[in-house]
Amino acid sequence: MKNRFLLALIFLVVAVLISQSTAANIRSGDFDFYKLYNDPEAHISLKGRRTTSDRMAAHGYPAEHHHIVTEDGYIVGVFRIPYSHKLQNQNEYRPIVLIQHGLTSCSDAWVLNGPDDGLPYLLADAGYDVWLGNARGNTYSRNHTSLSTEHPYFWRFSWHEIGHYDIAAMIDYALKTNGQGQKAIHYVGHSQGTTVFFTLMSTRPEYNEKIKTAHMYAPIAIMTNLENAFVRAVAPYLGQRNAYSLLFSCQEFIPNNDFLLALLFNFCEPDQMLRPSCEKVMENIYAKDRKNKTALPEGLATHPGGCSTNQMIHYLQEQQSGHFRQYDHGTAKNLEIYGSETPPDYPVEEITSKVYLWYGLNDNLAAVEDVLALADRLPNREVRLIEDPLWDHIDFAMNMEARKYLNDPVIEIMQEFENDNN
Ligand SMILES: *[C@@H]1O[C@H](CO)[C@@H](O)[C@H](O)[C@H]1NC(C)=O
Ligand SMILES: *[C@@H]1O[C@H](CO)[C@@H](O)[C@H](O)[C@H]1NC(C)=O
Repeated sequence: MKNRFLLALIFLVVAVLISQSTAANIRSGDFDFYKLYNDPEAHISLKGRRTTSDRMAAHGYPAEHHHIVTEDGYIVGVFRIPYSHKLQNQNEYRPIVLIQHGLTSCSDAWVLNGPDDGLPYLLADAGYDVWLGNARGNTYSRNHTSLSTEHPYFWRFSWHEIGHYDIAAMIDYALKTNGQGQKAIHYVGHSQGTTVFFTLMSTRPEYNEKIKTAHMYAPIAIMTNLENAFVRAVAPYLGQRNAYSLLFSCQEFIPNNDFLLALLFNFCEPDQMLRPSCEKVMENIYAKDRKNKTALPEGLATHPGGCSTNQMIHYLQEQQSGHFRQYDHGTAKNLEIYGSETPPDYPVEEITSKVYLWYGLNDNLAAVEDVLALADRLPNREVRLIEDPLWDHIDFAMNMEARKYLNDPVIEIMQEFENDNN
C-alpha cells in the first residue's frame, strides 16, 4: 500500500515536471541528460548532504546556519551570508535582505548559479546582510518544539502559515540578530515566496513597516488564467472539498531523500517506461541553452525540497475559485474558523509596502493577466516585465542571463533606496 502511494506520488512529480515544460516544445538536439546524470559528482553530492551554508562557504563566503522558532512552535532552518569576505565589511552598515524560495524548493535554489550570477552572492558583494529562508516542512525545516514529523499534525499547514508565522519570524529574527538597529529589510521571493509575502503583509499589515522594497519573481496570488496543463487537469479533483482532497491532505509531499531520488533515476534509465518522458522534460527545460546546465546536478541533488500536500491543495483551490483567499476547510469548519461559509479573501489592498512585480511572457504558472489583475489591487507597486519574450517560471532561477535581466536591476533598486534614505 505504502509503495503504491509512493509510486503514485513519483508519477505526479514527473507529471508536474512535464507540464511545467510544455511551453517550450523545441528540441535541443545533442543534449544528453543521462551523460550528465552519470556524472559521479552528482551522486557524491547526494550522499554528502551539503547544506546551503556548506555551498556558500565553499566559495569563500562567511556562512551561518540559524534555527528560528515560530510563534506556533515550528523550527525553521535559515542560512545567512553576514558580510562579504571580498569587502571585509563586517563592521560597516549592511542592509538586511531576506530571500525566499518557491514550492517544493529550498534555499539551495538561490545558490545554484554560483558566485558570479547567484543572487545571494551578488547581494553580499554589494554590501548586504543576506538571509536565505526555508519554509516549514522542507529539507531544512523539518523540526518542531513538540511535534514529530511522523505526526500528521506536523503537516497540517499551508502557505498561509508559512507567510503568517515563518516569514514574520524570519524578519524579526534577522532585524534583531543583525544588531545595527535596522527597522526594515528588503525582500525577494520566487513563486510561493511571493504568495507567502502577500499572505503575511495582508493579514498582519503592521509588517509592511518592516519592508523597504519587495521583489516578487513570478508573483502567484490570482490563478484564474494559469495555463499549466497539469494544474488544470488535477485542480477540479483536488481543488474542491471531496474525498480525493481529504485523502491527499495533511501529508508530507516528496521529501528530498536518497531512496526517492534513486527511484526517480531508475525510472529514467534507458529501458524504463518513463525514459521518454524524462527525455522530454530535460530537452524542454534545457531547450536553446537558455538555462544553466552546469547547475543541473546540484539542482537535482537538492530538489524536490519537500512540503505539505496542503500547500498544493490550497493553490488548486485558488485556481478553482478564482479568489486569492484562505484555505477552504469545508462549510462547517469554515464557519467555525472564519465565521463564514467560504474562506475570507486576502485583503491585498492593505499591502502598503513598495512591491515590484517581476514577470515573464512565457510563464505558465504566473499568467500575465493574473499578474496585472493583482497589480490593479496593490496600492504601492511597480510592474517589471522581463524583456526576454521566452522567459518562463524556471528562468527566474536558472536562466543564463538571470543576472542581467533580474538580479542586477533588483540590486540597483535596493541601492537607490539605500542612497535616498541614508
Ligand atoms: C531542531 O531545532 C533545534 C533547536 O533549535 C536544533 O538544535 C536542531 O539542530 C534542529 N534539528 C534539525 C534536524 O534541524
Ligand atoms: C552556471 O552554474 C555554474 C555552477 O554553479 C556556475 O559556475 C556558472 O557561473 C553559472 N553560469 C551562469 C551564467 O549562471
